[in-house]
Amino acid sequence: MEKHILLRDLDVPNIRDLAVYSQHEGYAAWKKAVTGMKPDEVITVVKDSGLRGRGGAGFPAGVKWSFIPKDVFPKYVTVNCDESEPGTFKDHQLIRHNPHQVIEGTALCAYAIGANVAYIYCRGEFREPARELQKAIDDAYAAGLLGKNLFGSNYSLDIYVHLGAGAYICGEESALLESLEGKIGQPRLKPPFPAVSGLYSKPTVINNVETLANVPPIVLNGAAWYKQWGTEKSPGVKLFSVCGHVKNPGNYELPLGKYSIQELLEMAGGSMTGRPIKAVLPAGSSSPIIPASNFHAKLDYEAMAAIGSVLGSCSWIFMDDSVDMVWAARKMIRFFKHESCGKCTPCREGTHWALSVYDKLLSGKGTIEDVNLIGEVNKQIIGKCFCPLGEFATSSMTFTLKHFKQDYVDFIDQKKGGSDVYLKELARDHHLHELHSGVVSVNGIKVH
Ligand SMILES: Cc1cc2nc3c(=O)[nH]c(=O)nc-3n(C[C@H](O)[C@H](O)[C@H](O)COP(=O)(O)O)c2cc1C
Ligand code: SF4
Repeated sequence: MEKHILLRDLDVPNIRDLAVYSQHEGYAAWKKAVTGMKPDEVITVVKDSGLRGRGGAGFPAGVKWSFIPKDVFPKYVTVNCDESEPGTFKDHQLIRHNPHQVIEGTALCAYAIGANVAYIYCRGEFREPARELQKAIDDAYAAGLLGKNLFGSNYSLDIYVHLGAGAYICGEESALLESLEGKIGQPRLKPPFPAVSGLYSKPTVINNVETLANVPPIVLNGAAWYKQWGTEKSPGVKLFSVCGHVKNPGNYELPLGKYSIQELLEMAGGSMTGRPIKAVLPAGSSSPIIPASNFHAKLDYEAMAAIGSVLGSCSWIFMDDSVDMVWAARKMIRFFKHESCGKCTPCREGTHWALSVYDKLLSGKGTIEDVNLIGEVNKQIIGKCFCPLGEFATSSMTFTLKHFKQDYVDFIDQKKGGSDVYLKELARDHHLHELHSGVVSVNGIKVH
């Protein structure tokens, strides 16, 4: 691709400034829509572009917008900038370095569905990026691009930035709405879906930051223009956050379906350590791990499904062969145990028990029966949880066991558990280092 569509800050210095953004077709789509398009026409062009949600599930954006009832008021747009999946940092780059494109996409979505208020929900840790985003919004107000009677029409729009309090579950759309309403961030029962009963029980569209950043160029240039990239079912471009054992971690903007996982790895400079890459998590800790033997797969929604994984939030964590999958799986299950909102028993208790089993393995007291027990604990979680976080939690266990069972067997046979490194890690994780005695105990093992 000659130019970036989303990461335009890489081509145009200071595009974060309104003046520079405006010189580069900034807000042209916004003006075009409000002054010359019916809201339904905006929905149609986004629908025709085939743009799929970039927050994880890949649901078509225009189709989602078309679900909003025409005769219920008020309605809302909520932008998901929670970006909590480990390894994901694409939305962060967008709101910091190309914020007006996110604001313009949000505005176009609001106009299309007939909303006069939009909220951009940022994860709690995004204090500084949220401040920068707010500055861009203030500039847009000052330039008459937001506020009352836009471009002389009777359409008005206000956009607010809201900071969460730092909980992974608040990225789940219904928990996000609860949090935005000032309640504890826990998922709601669905249906009703947000399109029917969302924020303050009113029809609401929730879209990811990257999804909406695609909208201005689509409205400006048309659906056919956007579809020149990607595949029939996965049109357009996508951001790939790449990290782990690679030489050049960062965000890469690529057409969907054109490159393979191996090519992505090479774009990121290959292995940082010189050791062979063993596997990759394509969507952080919630995704099925992909062994290197499947690195031929192309980067699109369908190809990922075909190899038993997902494109998801597109946070690619590459791991070299020094990574023990028992250790990696424990790290992930610990994350989910911490982030489980506690609303339903299988997830709250299941993640607790799963972590206990892994702790036992790391402490050196585990047996092959414990490895088999992991599968049993998994069964008590899968299909029994209130929201997808519970399922996500099982991925690390299910798929490291499926693809790297030998790591588990070796872990027991070669008595890897109980090493100083693992014992110290357990002690640290359990905050036992805070004990003043100087000697602490993990699963009955003394750690100095
Ligand atoms: C546990 C969990 C965490 C999620 N975290 C995020 C997130 O951080 N950002 C995001 O955009 N979507 C996240 N999602 C997906 C949202 O629920 C929702 O599908 C998305 O915001 C819809 O936007 P899209 O259609 O543009 O992808 C998460 C889902 C789950 C179940
Ligand atoms: S699955 Fe986990 S995160 Fe989701 S509602 Fe249940 S306890 Fe909360």
